Amino acid sequence: PDQYVVIGNPIAHSKSPRIHARFAAETAQRLNYSTLLAPLDGFVATAEAFRAAGGRGANVTVPFKLEAFAYSTRLTARAQAAGAVNTLMFDGADIIGDNTDGLGLVNDIVRNAGIPLQAKRILLLGAGGAARGALLPLLEQQPAQLIIANRTLSKAQQLAQAARAEFPDLVVAACTFETVPADCAFDVIINATSASLQDAVPPLPDYVWQARPLAYDMMYGATPTAFLQVAAQHAAQCRDGLGMLVEQAAAAYALWRGVQPATGPVLHELRMEMQ
Ligand code: ATR
Repeated sequence: PDQYVVIGNPIAHSKSPRIHARFAAETAQRLNYSTLLAPLDGFVATAEAFRAAGGRGANVTVPFKLEAFAYSTRLTARAQAAGAVNTLMFDGADIIGDNTDGLGLVNDIVRNAGIPLQAKRILLLGAGGAARGALLPLLEQQPAQLIIANRTLSKAQQLAQAARAEFPDLVVAACTFETVPADCAFDVIINATSASLQDAVPPLPDYVWQARPLAYDMMYGATPTAFLQVAAQHAAQCRDGLGMLVEQAAAAYALWRGVQPATGPVLHELRMEMQ
């Protein structure tokens, strides 16, 4: 059977092998998907050895997404926009780099949570790699407005400027957490900062919660992140990033195998196990 891996460091606790095994069973395809630990200074050597052994594709996770971007010989538009690669497909001499994280986020919100983003008002928190990866897929949904708020204003401004160049008809603006406009009535607030890792919450004014938005945290865990706890205090609808994880995997699977797996069953299973 065809061989796939997820490459990262650390990697032992990755849920991706389980997710892809479920997809393979469900779509009646034969393939192997396992974890591959790369030394911190050995991403390319590890990926090349796997490719030389006949590997067909790989997911790439922390901390190698930028190296995977540089390693790719061809990039999809969304990988180019994200500046990072989470999915590699080996095709003869070609190393195709894609990024399915942002599409995974959008599919989880639109399909799984059932919240269309078209004509909605979105507040995106953060301007690092995770935010950048989400930007193009979010804008493709044609929201009424997308505001990027970040601790460091200049990074939000850079992202907003690049987004406006790509989507001149859409309203994209940048601000700090403290200076989010008061009159926006956000439908969706997405936390793409890494603040949750430090149990911190971006210092947003209370008025951002006025319209009872969907609060989405790209992170997930057995207990709600600090951001989702604050959101719940403001009666927001809360969703963590577990669905994004499953949906980015489904998009990678579709790229490799040409077939779209159902994501509901495995998402439900992972959710049950985490409780
Ligand atoms: P990632 O790949 O997870 O996006 P990153 O590129 O290092 O990681 O970006 C981290 C993001 O989280 C940035 O937007 C960062 O804000 P700055 O640009 O000001 O550094 C944000 N961030 C990290 N820790 C934070 C905290 N404690 N509070 C608010 N924002 C934080």
